[in-house]
Amino acid sequence: MGEYYLDKIAAYLRDNSRLSFTGHKRTTLRSRLETRIAELKFSTFADYWGYLNSHDSETARLFDLVTTNETSFFRNRAQFSFFGEHIIPRFVQMPAVDKGTIRVLCAGCSTGEEPYSIAMTILESLCVPDSMKIEIVAGDLSRGCLKEAEAGFYETGRLKNLPKGYIDSYLEKTGDGAFVRKEVKELVRFVHLNLNDLMNPHSTDSRDQLGRFDIIFCRNVMIYFSSSCQQMLVETLHQMLFTGGYLFTGDAEPLHLFRHEFIPVEDADCLIYQKTEMSANARTSR
Ligand SMILES: C[S@@+](CC[C@H](N)C(=O)[O-])C[C@H]1O[C@@H](n2cnc3c(N)ncnc32)[C@H](O)[C@@H]1O
Repeated sequence: MGEYYLDKIAAYLRDNSRLSFTGHKRTTLRSRLETRIAELKFSTFADYWGYLNSHDSETARLFDLVTTNETSFFRNRAQFSFFGEHIIPRFVQMPAVDKGTIRVLCAGCSTGEEPYSIAMTILESLCVPDSMKIEIVAGDLSRGCLKEAEAGFYETGRLKNLPKGYIDSYLEKTGDGAFVRKEVKELVRFVHLNLNDLMNPHSTDSRDQLGRFDIIFCRNVMIYFSSSCQQMLVETLHQMLFTGGYLFTGDAEPLHLFRHEFIPVEDADCLIYQKTEMSANARTSR
């Protein structure tokens, strides 16, 4: 099928989502598009390009189709252990003036396992859950993923990484899986999020709407962007954190590959970074 139109679709994805389909990822893009083209009973990428340009709703369908949504509960357990044992207690011990709300952004939350793991970790870590207001904003480009995340139902096979006792404490079992309980769901607000909008230096609207965060999880997302977009994303996430806030990245996303102003959290045996005092965006400036 025509390479010219495949190039055009790849450029459209890059410009609208920052997803990069060069090298071996182009093969993935090709095969996923071929499935959609067959479904629509078209035969060429040119047919699909025409369809994409004349049907607004197809963009969301395309995002669902081309994103890689692999995830699991408590993926990279070491990060969650450090988060619950060391980071949440730091917020609890803060002087009363700064205390009150912990705002967490989970950017690229896929089908919800990650934000629900964050919520369960916070609930486990707080002796008195009502002592802090918790707000976890979880966003993803894929509307299909967000729908699943909001439903909060997971088949038995997807529950295997939950720490011992968590299924009984935080989920409601059914025949073939379990629903996340209300007290966990209540902590998470799912939103449609396109990191491309946050990274646009000329439009700060999307960033302003979300506000600033104490903690950002952005794991296994930037690997799908080009290296220049990864650099921009690191800078954007830095701006979106309060000073003293923490960034969690994926195993394949160490920040030493970029120019950045974070410091690695030294006593953590995993990728966690802290925004230092260097910038003026103090936590108290909410
Ligand atoms: C491999 S999953 C990672 C899920 C989770 N963060 C984890 O580590 O388990 C990557 C997710 O990033 C989302 N994503 C990709 N590009 C995005 C963008 N431009 N804006 C927001 N989310 C995006 C995808 O839809 C997908 O659900």
